[in-house]
Amino acid sequence: MSQTASINLDAPLQSDRNLALELVRVTEAAALASSRWIGRGDKNSADGAAVDAMRRAFDSVAINGTVVIGEGEMDEAPMLYIGEKVGAGGPEVDIAVDPLEGTSICARGMPNAIATVAVAEKGGFLHAPDIYMDKIAVGPGLPEGVVHIDASPKENLKNLAQARKVAIEDLVVCTLDRDRHKEIIRACREAGARIMLIPDGDVAGVVACSQPEAGVDMYLGWGGAPEGVLAAAALRCIGGQMQGRLIYEDDAQRERAKSMGISDPDRIFSVTEMAKGDVMFSATGVTTGAMLRGVRRTAFGAITHSIVMRSKTGTVRYVEGHHNFTIKPNLLIG
Ligand code: FBP
Repeated sequence: MSQTASINLDAPLQSDRNLALELVRVTEAAALASSRWIGRGDKNSADGAAVDAMRRAFDSVAINGTVVIGEGEMDEAPMLYIGEKVGAGGPEVDIAVDPLEGTSICARGMPNAIATVAVAEKGGFLHAPDIYMDKIAVGPGLPEGVVHIDASPKENLKNLAQARKVAIEDLVVCTLDRDRHKEIIRACREAGARIMLIPDGDVAGVVACSQPEAGVDMYLGWGGAPEGVLAAAALRCIGGQMQGRLIYEDDAQRERAKSMGISDPDRIFSVTEMAKGDVMFSATGVTTGAMLRGVRRTAFGAITHSIVMRSKTGTVRYVEGHHNFTIKPNLLIG
C-alpha cells in the first residue's frame, strides 16, 4: 500500500487529528461567506459565496483530495465539481461537499442551513448522482435492523417504540415538508406519532436522529442522494442507522447512476455502503437549527458554531469559533 493511500492506516495519528480540525476551517469559511446572504432572497449568491470560500479554504488543507460528491459535473460547476482535485498535498482522500446545504432556507432566513464537508479514504463514498434518494434513519444504541425502508411507517414506528420502550405517541418523525410525503405524514400521524416538518436541509434532519437534544426519533422520506451520502458519513461518526435507495424519474437518471458505478440500481444502501472505512465529517451552522447555531455577527467579526467528528474514535466535538475580522479579514479563516 502506498505511503499516502488512506486516512486510516497510513496517516500518522496526529495528522489525522489535525485534518479533522482543518475541516472545521473549511466549513467555517463557507458558513461565514454565505451568512452575508441570509434572508436576502438570493439563493444563488448565497451558494456561490459558500462554494467560493470553501474552495479557497481547501487550498491550505494538507490532503490530496478528489471531490466525489460536489457541485455537479465539470461542465456544470466552475468549482468543487466532481473529479476536481483539492488540497495542498498529503494523504489521498475522497471529499464530499455541500458548501451550503439549504440554499433556499438561507435565502429566506429560515432555520437549519449548514455548510458541510466529509472526507473518506479513497473509494470510501458512494458516488451518488444528483437525483432523489429514499431515506430512513434512526439514532444509535438500537438493535440492528430495527427499522427497514420497505416496512410501513406504522410497522417501523411499532418496532422502534418497542426497542426504545416508549409509546408510539412519544416518537417524533422528521421529514421534508413536501407534497410527495403526504402519505408518510398521514400514516405516521395515524399510527400516533408526531411529525416534525422541515422546509429543507435533510442532512441536519437525518443527523438529528443521533442528537438526543434535537428531539427526533426517526427520519423518513425522499431527499437528495448526495445529501444522503453526507448524512451517512455523519452517522458513521456519531452512530445511528440509515438506509437509502435511489429514486429514478427517467431512464437518463438510471443511466447516470450506472455511469457512476452503481451496478444494482435498486440496491438498498446501508450507512457503511454509502460511507465506508474511516470518515470525518464537519458542519458549521449558517442559520440556527436543531444541530447547530447559525453565524452571529459581532462588532469585531463573527461567531461560528461547528460540529466535527471522526469515525475512527467516535469523538464528536462542538467548536465555537470567534473570528476577529479587525485582525484577520474573513477571506480565509485562520
Ligand atoms: P439545496 O441546498 O441544494 O437547496 O438542497 C436543500 C434540500 O432540502 C436538501 O437538504 C434535500 O436533500 C433536497 O433539497 C430535497 O430536494 P427538493 O427540494 O427537490 O425536495
